[in-house]
Amino acid sequence: MSTEIKHETWSSRWIFILAATGSAVGLGNIWRFPYVTGENGGGAFVLVYLLCVLLVGLPVMICEVMLGKHGRASPINAMKNLAIGAKLSEKWGMVGLLGIVAGFLILSFYSVIAGWSLAYTFYFVTGTMETMGPQSAEAFFNKLTESATSMLVWHSIFLVITCYMVGRGLKRGLEMAVKSLMPILFLMLFGLVCYSAVVGNFGDAIVYLFRPNFSALTGESILIALGQAFFSLSLGMGSLMIYGAYLPKQTPIIRTSAMIGIADTLVALSAGLAIFPIVFAYGLEAGQGPGLVFVTLTVAFGAMPFGQILGTLFFVLLSIAAWTSAISLLEPIVAWMLEGGRLTRVKATVIGGAGAWLLGVFSLLSFNIWGDITIFSKNFFEISEFLSTSIMLPLGGLLIVLFSGWRLKSDTALEWLGIEAKEWKLRAKVLILLVKVVAPLGVAAVLVNSSGLDRIGLKIFSLIF
Ligand code: TRP
Repeated sequence: MSTEIKHETWSSRWIFILAATGSAVGLGNIWRFPYVTGENGGGAFVLVYLLCVLLVGLPVMICEVMLGKHGRASPINAMKNLAIGAKLSEKWGMVGLLGIVAGFLILSFYSVIAGWSLAYTFYFVTGTMETMGPQSAEAFFNKLTESATSMLVWHSIFLVITCYMVGRGLKRGLEMAVKSLMPILFLMLFGLVCYSAVVGNFGDAIVYLFRPNFSALTGESILIALGQAFFSLSLGMGSLMIYGAYLPKQTPIIRTSAMIGIADTLVALSAGLAIFPIVFAYGLEAGQGPGLVFVTLTVAFGAMPFGQILGTLFFVLLSIAAWTSAISLLEPIVAWMLEGGRLTRVKATVIGGAGAWLLGVFSLLSFNIWGDITIFSKNFFEISEFLSTSIMLPLGGLLIVLFSGWRLKSDTALEWLGIEAKEWKLRAKVLILLVKVVAPLGVAAVLVNSSGLDRIGLKIFSLIF
C-alpha cells in the first residue's frame, strides 16, 4: 500500500520539543503578533488571544500531536488510516487535504515576509541602517516593498534554503539548528525587552498590551485572535501532526504540548514588550500593519550602541526562526507526496517549493504593482493571509478536536495520550471537557459570528417564522 513508506523518527523526545518549538516560534510571534495586536487595539485583543491559546489552542495541539503519533503518516493519510481503524469514513482524510491547501497558502506569503527579514539582515551587515529616525525607517521599509524585484530575490532565496533543508530530510540540520540557535534567539529577545524598558515608553506599552479596552474589540478581531493563536502555535494544518508522526513511542504528549505552548506565548509577549515601548516613545503608528516590526526595530537598533552588530544578529536569528517554521509548513506536503510512492524526497520538495514560490510571487506583487487589485477591499496577500489563517486553520482545528473528542472512543484517546483510567482523574476530565465541548464550541461560535452566518441565519429564521 502506498502509505506504508517508513518515515524517520526523532532521535529523542527532546529533539521533538525543540523541533516543534522551532515550528511554533517564528514570524508569527515576532512579526505577526505585534502587528495584529496593533491593528486590533491592544489589551482586549491580547486577552482574547491568550484565552484562545489556553482554551482552544492547547486542546487542539494535544489532539493534533496525538493523531500524528498514532497515524504515523502525512496528515491526509494519518487521518484516513485512523478513520478506517476506527471504522469511520475515509473522508476524514479531507482534514489533511484542507491542511495541505492552507500550508501552501501560508508558506507562500510566509516566505515573502521571511524574505524581508533576510533583506534586513543584509542591510544591517552592510551598514545601510545607521541611526535612522522613524520617518526614514518607514521610507526605507516602503522602498523595499515597492521594489518587486528585491522582494522576489529575497523570497526566492528563502524558499531555496527552506527546500534545501526539507530535501535533505529533517534530522540532519533541523535538529542542529534548533538545538543551538533557538536559545540564542530567546536571549536576544529578552535583551531587547530590557533595552526597550529602559529607553522606550514601557509604561504606555504595558497599559496598551494588558489593559483591556473592549470597545476596540469587534467580531472580526476575535476571529483574528483565534487565527493568530492557530498560526502562532502551528496548528490546524498538520505541521505538528507530521512532527508527531516522527515521535518515538514513549512521549508524554500533554506535558510536551504545554511546554511548547508556554514557550511560544512567552516569545510572542516578549516581542510585544520589545516593540511597543519603542512605538510609543517615537510616536510610531501601532496599527500600521505588516511593516510594524521592521520599522520599529530599525529605529531601535539605529539608536542603540553597537546597533549595527546587534541588528544584524537579531535579523539573522529571526530569519532562522522563520526558516525552522517554514520547514514545518512544507514537510506535511512533502511527506504526503512521498507516500504516493512515485517521487523521491528531493523531487517532492522541488514541486512543493515551486508551487509555494509561485503563489508567493502573487503575494509580493500585491505590495506594489498589484496593490490596487482587491476583492472585498483585500489584496492577494491579505486574502491569502485571512483565508488560510483565520478560516482554514480554525476549521482544520475544529475537525481535529471533533474527530478526537467525538469520533474516537474516549478510552482509546486517553490511552493514546498515556493517561491511565485511574490516575489523572481530574486532569482527564478537564481535558475531555476542553476537547469535546469548549474548543469546538469556541471555534464554531467565532467562525459563525464573524462570517456573518449568524446574522444571515437570524434573518432567514425571522423570515420563516
Ligand atoms: N507557527 C509559525 C510561526 O509562528 C508558522 C507556522 C509553522 C505555522 N507551521 C505552521 C502556522 C502551521 C500555521 C500552521 O511563525
